Amino acid sequence: MHANPAVDAVADRSRPPAAGRLVVDAPTRMFHALFALSFAGAYATADSEHWRLLHVSLGYVFAGLLGFRVLYGLLGPRQARLALLWRRLSGAAAWLRSLPAATSPAAVHWRQGQNLAMALAIAAMLALALPLAVSGYGTWNEWGDALEDVHEVLGNALLAVVLAHLALIVLLSVLRRQNQALPMLTGRVAGSGPDLVRRNRAWLAGLLLLAVLAFGAWQWQDAARRPASAGDGASMTDPHGHDAGRASRHDGDDD
Ligand code: HEM
Ligand code: HEM
Repeated sequence: MHANPAVDAVADRSRPPAAGRLVVDAPTRMFHALFALSFAGAYATADSEHWRLLHVSLGYVFAGLLGFRVLYGLLGPRQARLALLWRRLSGAAAWLRSLPAATSPAAVHWRQGQNLAMALAIAAMLALALPLAVSGYGTWNEWGDALEDVHEVLGNALLAVVLAHLALIVLLSVLRRQNQALPMLTGRVAGSGPDLVRRNRAWLAGLLLLAVLAFGAWQWQDAARRPASAGDGASMTDPHGHDAGRASRHDGDDD
């Protein structure tokens, strides 16, 4: 009996093998790219009074992206769930305990350790993001001098974890002789087999990008209007009063 090609096509859902397997969906990749860029931008503009508004805007974008990722991690598809990260982390204690026992081969242990280190770095970045944004908001709104130091320490702590994240990617790429950064860009890993991601959801990635761009445009306009509308109590109004064109005591440039 001849096989029915139509039935075969339905049964075998695999795509042409050349493309590889889709393992990271578009919204996660878009989140990652924007999260990394907003962090880099906020860090680069942190030091200077001149770039303060840009720093704060990038910080808001960063915080908003965290909110998106948490929602997507709670309501989104299985492969993007935060529960997955939690499960990877909760293996840590067992992994440490099993070290002396050496029940599994050293290579397996070593590989589990590498994955655990990456999961730890990711969890630390996500966990630091909220207190960093809140302390920044508090600094901006002058909740207290101590917050400024807290904010700076948290910013530098996150930088340290980001550098560890990048070092791990380089290290694992060398150890595994395979570019570990690529899946976060293309969404795919080489090889055949079923896709981990059922639906790419490019529309949601587009929506996320659009939201960030719209917020950026709004902040830009707001900043351009600022000198005329200082003191209106809007969140972007500089509480130090720099925007009003007044010499601020903070600046130390009174003469
Ligand atoms: C060019 C620089 C970067 C590259 C190549 C890169 C690459 C990657 C890769 C390959 C993963 C997946 C790791 C895994 O699951 O095993 C990942 C995840 C992640 N990275 Fe990066 N990363 C970069 C910069 C950053 C920066 C600057 C941040 C934070 C400010 C960051 C935050 C994250 C987060 C939060 C995840 C988890 C993603 C999720 O599942 O939602 N990354 N990154
Ligand atoms: C990715 C997120 C952020 C990072 C990495 C970051 C990092 C930093 C760092 C390292 C500093 C210290 C600069 C220095 O004095 O040497 C700083 C200062 C500051 N940040 Fe952020 N920040 C972020 C988000 C925010 C947010 C969301 C806000 C406000 C809503 C904010 C408001 C401020 C303000 C007002 C200062 C100046 C403190 C001062 O008067 O010296 N930041 N930030």
